[in-house]
Amino acid sequence: MIWTLKLITLAFLLLLGGQYNTFALQDVTADLFGPGNYGTVAAFGDFNSDKQTDIFTIKEQTDLVIFLADSKPPYFKPKVQAKNILGKNITSVVPGDYDGDSQMDVLLTAKNGQETEVFIFWGHNQTLGTALIVIYLQMLPCRHRKKPYPGQVANGDGYQDHLLPACLDKSCQRSTIYLAKSGSRDSKWIPVLSDFKRKETVWGFVPDNSSQPPALHLGDYNLDGFPDALVVLQNKSGSGQQAFLLENVPCNSDTCHSVGRMFHIHWDQSDLGAIQNAVRATFFDIYEDGILDMLVQSKAEGKQDLRIHALKNNFEADAYFVKVMGKGLICQPFGVNQPGPYVKYTTVDSNGYLKNASAGQLSQSAYFSLQLPYTVLGLGRSANFLDHLFVGIPRQPGETEIRNKEWTAIIPNSQLIVMPFPHDTPRSWSAKLYLTPSNSVLLTAIALIGVCVFILVIIGILHWQEKKADDREKRQEAHRFHFDAM
Ligand SMILES: *[C@@H]1O[C@H](CO)[C@@H](O)[C@H](O)[C@H]1NC(C)=O
Ligand SMILES: *[C@@H]1O[C@H](CO)[C@@H](O)[C@H](O)[C@H]1NC(C)=O
Ligand SMILES: *[C@@H]1O[C@H](CO)[C@@H](O)[C@H](O)[C@H]1NC(C)=O
Ligand SMILES: *[C@@H]1O[C@H](CO)[C@@H](O)[C@H](O)[C@H]1NC(C)=O
Ligand SMILES: *[C@@H]1O[C@H](CO)[C@@H](O)[C@H](O)[C@H]1NC(C)=O
Repeated sequence: MIWTLKLITLAFLLLLGGQYNTFALQDVTADLFGPGNYGTVAAFGDFNSDKQTDIFTIKEQTDLVIFLADSKPPYFKPKVQAKNILGKNITSVVPGDYDGDSQMDVLLTAKNGQETEVFIFWGHNQTLGTALIVIYLQMLPCRHRKKPYPGQVANGDGYQDHLLPACLDKSCQRSTIYLAKSGSRDSKWIPVLSDFKRKETVWGFVPDNSSQPPALHLGDYNLDGFPDALVVLQNKSGSGQQAFLLENVPCNSDTCHSVGRMFHIHWDQSDLGAIQNAVRATFFDIYEDGILDMLVQSKAEGKQDLRIHALKNNFEADAYFVKVMGKGLICQPFGVNQPGPYVKYTTVDSNGYLKNASAGQLSQSAYFSLQLPYTVLGLGRSANFLDHLFVGIPRQPGETEIRNKEWTAIIPNSQLIVMPFPHDTPRSWSAKLYLTPSNSVLLTAIALIGVCVFILVIIGILHWQEKKADDREKRQEAHRFHFDAM
């Protein structure tokens, strides 16, 4: 019995040991794109309704190229190519369903002097139709450079906080990331990262004189329930730009005390460091398995187009995730990923405490925001069911009723596709659940079978010994009988 206990303990220790994080990235660019890994990644979306996310890129400033996800390598093939589609430089790509026919349309913008021109290409049977609308928008002068990033929790209290990467001077010699807690209107901006110094080198955000303001791309790469971030920083002591991973860790300084969390820069991430002249870095779930991988774009020598690097996140620790896609639906079972849904879960963690987290989907889609058309929520190391999962969608102006629906007891490591249709009757919304068995389920099964086999062997041995003893006793009895008979 003691041996059995020891074995169970051993199996348990093995299980625990398997849970320590090993974080490694693997360059899978060739697998994904083959030699065609050039172009500016502009947006993500499911263009051909196959439930796999496709990549929208701009090539040579004027061509729209859509890499469709495929099951054979290269896993992304440039199947839709529209050369010089507008006759001018494309400044932004926004996939979405603009006429409600469940087919993905594509909105493109271009600059015409001071004005921005907007074109919508109506999608027909996975091809780009012709542009039917041209709108002219006057660009407003951009006075406020502060650009909050809504739609993500940073400190894990279940409420949405605003994160703001900022430069404290014109050339971003001093950079910082602020967080404003929601709820209080007069809230202060609390720095959650201000130390950008590594040995002798000072790093900082890239100043936005020409193109984009500094951006944080959020995603929970280690599935601990707290969103991490990818940023591109510039070597302020010299030259060069690199992508860095910022991990969301418990606060250990006075400034972030009231938030409880802060960012820690992974300076020694060699796979990211190997990419010279990085321009943009974002999270992307390449294999649609709920583990966020990374796409990094870099300037290539002598080429106008940016180079795409794909890094697979070989995350070993077993954590749990829920993936929610809010889909618009008119006549097809799977429509186009919808902007604006809000997802929130409550569950009990392994210590028995209530845990909340929430996230918004596609709060911004234009101008290379590169948000994913689904939500990946990390659950940390709790294998419990999600007690409650709420999905809400935006309501019409003037409406007072909240459009949300609750699902209970959702299995971790699952993909939930929510179809909020009809929009105004949440009661009839439906959801489809796809499961991915986790590593620890397999390990637990193996441990359990091992223990069973061990117990069976022990039972067998004991049984055999008992039988032997029985036989001996019988023989002795027989002997005694003979003896008595004499
Ligand atoms: C497109 O962008 C390139 C490079 O920035 C520039 O040289 C070219 O003049 C632009 N074309 C138009 C039509 O604006
Ligand atoms: C799309 O394809 C279907 C079947 O292949 C066809 O019936 C339909 O007319 C096509 N629609 C358009 C707009 O091309
Ligand atoms: C989670 O949300 C519920 C309902 O909004 C709230 O009552 C509870 O206090 C929250 N728990 C935590 C840990 O924030
Ligand atoms: C951006 O602005 C900074 C400070 O004004 C300047 O030093 C730098 O050369 C500018 N970079 C570009 C690409 O214009
Ligand atoms: C930053 O640039 C300086 C000057 O070129 C260089 O000495 C230093 O090694 C660079 N730092 C890193 C981390 O690359």
